[in-house]
Amino acid sequence: MGGIAYYNGELFDRNEARIPLSDRAIFFGDAVYDMMIGEGGNIHQADEHIARLLFSANTIGIKHRYSAEDIYDLLELVVKSSSLNSYRIYIQLSRDSASREHSYLSSRGTNLLITAEEYRIVRDIEEIKLISTEDRRYRFCNVKTVNLLPAVLASAEAERAGCDEAVFIRDGFITECAHSNISILLGDTVYTHPLSDVILPGITRRHLLLGALSSGFKCREERFGIGELFRADEVIVTSTTKLLRRATHVDGAAVGGRNLSA
Ligand code: PDD
Repeated sequence: MGGIAYYNGELFDRNEARIPLSDRAIFFGDAVYDMMIGEGGNIHQADEHIARLLFSANTIGIKHRYSAEDIYDLLELVVKSSSLNSYRIYIQLSRDSASREHSYLSSRGTNLLITAEEYRIVRDIEEIKLISTEDRRYRFCNVKTVNLLPAVLASAEAERAGCDEAVFIRDGFITECAHSNISILLGDTVYTHPLSDVILPGITRRHLLLGALSSGFKCREERFGIGELFRADEVIVTSTTKLLRRATHVDGAAVGGRNLSA
């Protein structure tokens, strides 16, 4: 897989890039990230992704010298240098390079990693199957950190079951999926979990709500359970890389399919 990588001021072929062992992202996952897609010079919703990256860094106290403009300029540099036409960008800001001590109070710097790789953007509404599983993540889900083990395990569990995504259940309510948000359409209303520390404030989720409102639907940011998934007219799964997908099955039982046309 080709592409390009930027690490602390230097550009590399994506396959050649190396990160020093001392990067706190390696020992502690002490880093935040974001993911974007783009075409030509247009990095989709770049401002919103950059704002979320800075929010994530700020929330866990990663001190850095980057303004939103600096980050945008670096993303542009990486995209231009890559000569890619349709791409996916990963950006990661880690706290420091240091010997392995848990506390970070003596941290002085940050490491910035950006990669761009070819990515085909699918605009058709894909149909997907879900499994449900317990949400075993901690309470920082609104911060996009690289601590993704529960999402990794749940994604493998979904794949093992022949499914595409895992939907998380916490205290009897649906939160989100392993790497997407989930919403349902019931009648003329779109329901989705309210913003809190148990879901990521998804940028595609926000655009779904804005689009639904401007098309005359009502939107309610309210918790719902697995029973509502089965009663929903549509089960809608959103993420930057896959845009809007419609779930047809949860745990092998048919759901939705009563409103969106594929
Ligand atoms: N995933 N929830 C989680 C836990 C996510 O990891 C993601 C994104 C989303 C959707 O957010 P957005 O619409 O802003 O992409 C919700 C990215 C794409 C990933 O890690 O691959």
